[in-house]
Amino acid sequence: MKPVKITEGVYSLRANHFNRHLFDSLIPLPDGTSYNAYLVKGSEKTALLDSSDPEKKEVLLGYLRGVEKLDYIIAHHAEQDHSGAIPFVLEKYPSAKVVTNPKCKELLMSHLHIPAGKFIEVKDGETLSLGGHTLEFIYLPWVHWPETMGTYLREDKILFSCDLFGSHLASGELFSEERTVYAPMKRYYAEIMMPFRSNIKGHLEKLSKYEINFIAPSHGPVHKNVKFVLEIYRDWAAGEPKNKALVAYVSMHGSTYILVNRLVSALEEAGVSVEKLNLEQFDEGRVAMALVDAATVIIGTPTVLAGPHPKAVYGAYLANALRPKVKFISVIGSYGWGGKMAEQITGMLTNLKVEVIEPVIIKGYPKEADFKALDQMADNILQKHRQING
Ligand code: FEO
Repeated sequence: MKPVKITEGVYSLRANHFNRHLFDSLIPLPDGTSYNAYLVKGSEKTALLDSSDPEKKEVLLGYLRGVEKLDYIIAHHAEQDHSGAIPFVLEKYPSAKVVTNPKCKELLMSHLHIPAGKFIEVKDGETLSLGGHTLEFIYLPWVHWPETMGTYLREDKILFSCDLFGSHLASGELFSEERTVYAPMKRYYAEIMMPFRSNIKGHLEKLSKYEINFIAPSHGPVHKNVKFVLEIYRDWAAGEPKNKALVAYVSMHGSTYILVNRLVSALEEAGVSVEKLNLEQFDEGRVAMALVDAATVIIGTPTVLAGPHPKAVYGAYLANALRPKVKFISVIGSYGWGGKMAEQITGMLTNLKVEVIEPVIIKGYPKEADFKALDQMADNILQKHRQING
């Protein structure tokens, strides 16, 4: 594989991983992923920005075959999908120095056993000249680890953004297209970045002073349409939730399913957009994506093992961990002889600043009065959404 030119002296060394199906043994990857390293050749020095997952180290080393001298390895992030191949690169270029911030240095030393003497520490805003190419380091903590940072290449106006603005999307195309990258970017944001919304809001503010022609993230294609990328991130991280309800449910013998269908119809008739997700085949990415802009989440669950269905519990746990900007929550479902599903589900959402809408929990098969209660819930949700969206 040959490095792919982005601008004069700047290259993409992307290692696509088309057939990886799970990240962190948790996140489904319907479009695979990529580990993006970049090479910047100045008139005096050469820098490699990040490396690759160790599983793809041969791809990275193949890209570097024609590179005789490497002076610096810029480490934006200590997670192994970007740093894991650094020890192999150091083996090939023993005089290269790893340039990073003190926190990342500490993590690389503990995770990869890179000796302290191999590092050059840089401060936020510090620059490093390669000769005609000036790297400016920008601290971007908590996207999504504490040590994350980016690099701005001043002359070419390229932001190497680490995981920020990335997408789990294996692709042979250098540049992203809005049509194809939107969903993978949203999925990525939802699964990885959403819990750190307030940090991201701050970073978007910090980055607004830079003129950026390209965003080169650590996963997925390079973005030429910088305005598009910044606008969708602003909307996801800082915008108000939409007039939208997520109804995530699981049903065992059909009663909860009937309640779900009635509520979904009532919401749609009221003018609330609805995403209905069956949790039986749990896709963490779909749940996370639906949480990005929903104002309300309704969990539908039957009673089993004296409580909510375990898949509904997992849904609530995930929603709590991902810290979406949801404002209202409720529970619907049925029981046979007892159970406190609603209290157990709402009690799990301690990270969320939500108002609980009166749950509809019924005994057995739904009756007319239960449908009326669901219609009332839909109307209630609409009124609450109007208060947010005007
Ligand atoms: Fe893509 Fe957080 O590593």
